[in-house]
Amino acid sequence: KAAEKGGYDYFMLKEIADQPDAIADTLLGRLSDRGEIVLDEVRLTDQDLRDVDKVFIVACGTSYHAGMVAKYAIEHWTRIPCEVELASEFRYRDPILDRSTLVITISQSGETMDTLMALRHAKEQKARVLAICNTNGSTIPRESDAVLYTHGGPEIAVASTKAFLTQLVACYLIGLHLAQIRGVMYADEVAAVVEKLQSTPDSLRTLLGQMEDVRALARDLKTATTVLFIGRHVGYPVALEGALKLKELAYMHAEGFAAGELKHGPISLIDEGTPVVCVVPSPAGRGVIRDKVVSNIQEVRARGARTIVIAEEGDESVRAYADHLIPVPKTPTLLAPLMTTVPLQILACEIAAARGLDVDQPRNLAKSVTVE
Ligand code: G6P
Repeated sequence: KAAEKGGYDYFMLKEIADQPDAIADTLLGRLSDRGEIVLDEVRLTDQDLRDVDKVFIVACGTSYHAGMVAKYAIEHWTRIPCEVELASEFRYRDPILDRSTLVITISQSGETMDTLMALRHAKEQKARVLAICNTNGSTIPRESDAVLYTHGGPEIAVASTKAFLTQLVACYLIGLHLAQIRGVMYADEVAAVVEKLQSTPDSLRTLLGQMEDVRALARDLKTATTVLFIGRHVGYPVALEGALKLKELAYMHAEGFAAGELKHGPISLIDEGTPVVCVVPSPAGRGVIRDKVVSNIQEVRARGARTIVIAEEGDESVRAYADHLIPVPKTPTLLAPLMTTVPLQILACEIAAARGLDVDQPRNLAKSVTVE
């Protein structure tokens, strides 16, 4: 077992460290030299993809958070309306589906019962179903019209890490592929995003080498009673994922919020010293959203919060409001979750370890939930 963990104390730490390679493997063979997306393995014709007038993404748990990020990217790049929904809710509300609906399921295991039932429902309604999955030959891809496998390799720790980042990569590939086929993005626009995607494994290696402060912070936070996470745009699902990781692993009360919702309730939870993790978007591109998050940080700090700020390196203006600043490499806004999620994975893992808990096998959880 020690050898399987590759020298790490937990499978989860090994899987976190595997992420740069997992991303590179998921991109491998799917990009041309000219920066086009090549997804011949996805068995939907170009015409099928041109006919799509609505996308639904259905998934559970961490995979659902990948779907939330994907919605921002797919709508922005393709201009096709995209909804993301928890698989357990999807089929019970009678969604409107037909042949021109593309339903994308996201599942690490390919065996999650709720996602499988949602997929069957979508097929009955004649929607086209595309699976993003990490497990070759599992039930969900077998029952789907098409599949795009993530090449994350086996994930042993119950809490999902590398599967999540590779799911994001798969979603980005599908979004760009759709945009390319439908002529919504020019070839050079697609190639520019592809170039950034290709540089993420290296950026992530750099980031993973700078996590000492996060480990120290984790030891400091191990007695916290509640930790809040806030973000906007793609930082919002990252906040939800950070909170989920902490709940799963450290059995601590943690909640993620859209930063704009703070004033509609959650801000009253903030007391002297309450840790609030703030995911700050890049100042480039989406400067308006970034400025809004910065003012949310000021608001929580004014009420006594201890702010843990994840921001792009070089974004010095947030330093004044950060009790702890966690810099991440510069990445385009839509791809930023590939960076900003990682310190949150490490934070949760290290807090759980500091509390003496079983990081790889948290109580009451299963790697794959095969009951509804
Ligand atoms: C379980 C796991 C989670 C996972 C979720 C969905 O709850 O503990 O880590 O995100 O199932 O699993 P899937 O295999 O469908 O991605």
